[in-house]
Amino acid sequence: MSIEIRPIRIEDASAFREALQSVAEERRYILTLQAPPLEKTLAFVSEVIEKGYPQFVALDGQQFTGWADFIPPEKESLRHAASLGMGVLKEYRGRGIGDALLTAVTEAALAFGFTRLELEVFSNNSAAIGLYEKHGFEVEGLKRRARFIDGEYYDIQVMARLVG
Ligand SMILES: CC(C)(COP(=O)(O)OP(=O)(O)OC[C@H]1O[C@@H](n2cnc3c(N)ncnc32)[C@H](O)[C@@H]1OP(=O)(O)O)[C@@H](O)C(=O)NCCC(=O)NCCS
Repeated sequence: MSIEIRPIRIEDASAFREALQSVAEERRYILTLQAPPLEKTLAFVSEVIEKGYPQFVALDGQQFTGWADFIPPEKESLRHAASLGMGVLKEYRGRGIGDALLTAVTEAALAFGFTRLELEVFSNNSAAIGLYEKHGFEVEGLKRRARFIDGEYYDIQVMARLVG
């Protein structure tokens, strides 16, 4: 399997949305339960490209297999700190794609100039936590019972990596 990792392009928007929807439907790994409509996804990807925010995709030939992005918030005083979002399609997990995506998107985030890279992860998501620890993210705290879905509470672990 040869996986291509590259910055997102506008023509990836639909496949990105489908991948997001697929991970959202698992209901266990990300807060999103329903991917935004294509129009909104297109607007998001356009802004990412226009502003040069780091967002990478992984492709197996024509097959979209995953994504990773670091997006800063709106508030001016928080814009040095970008939040990670990522996912790999279920059937492609455990093959090094998440690792390659995080390496690429982190390199781009450092080049962009962010000085704080942060993320939130459900505390039972051991695969993601293992990946983040491998990439130097440290635990900052725990938001207890932060998510409630399908009759279950999830704690959210806050992790970050400071740069410079
Ligand atoms: C988390 C996720 C992105 C990891 O991507 P992946 O392609 O499966 O991971 P990789 O195969 O590249 O593994 C990279 C590292 O992650 C960790 N990891 C991956 N799978 C793991 C598992 N099942 N258990 C423990 N650690 C695991 C390991 O540290 C691994 O490094 P190693 O191979 O040197 O041990 C992927 O599992 C995923 O998309 N999960 C669902 C969505 C999600 O959780 N998104 C993040 C929300 S915060």
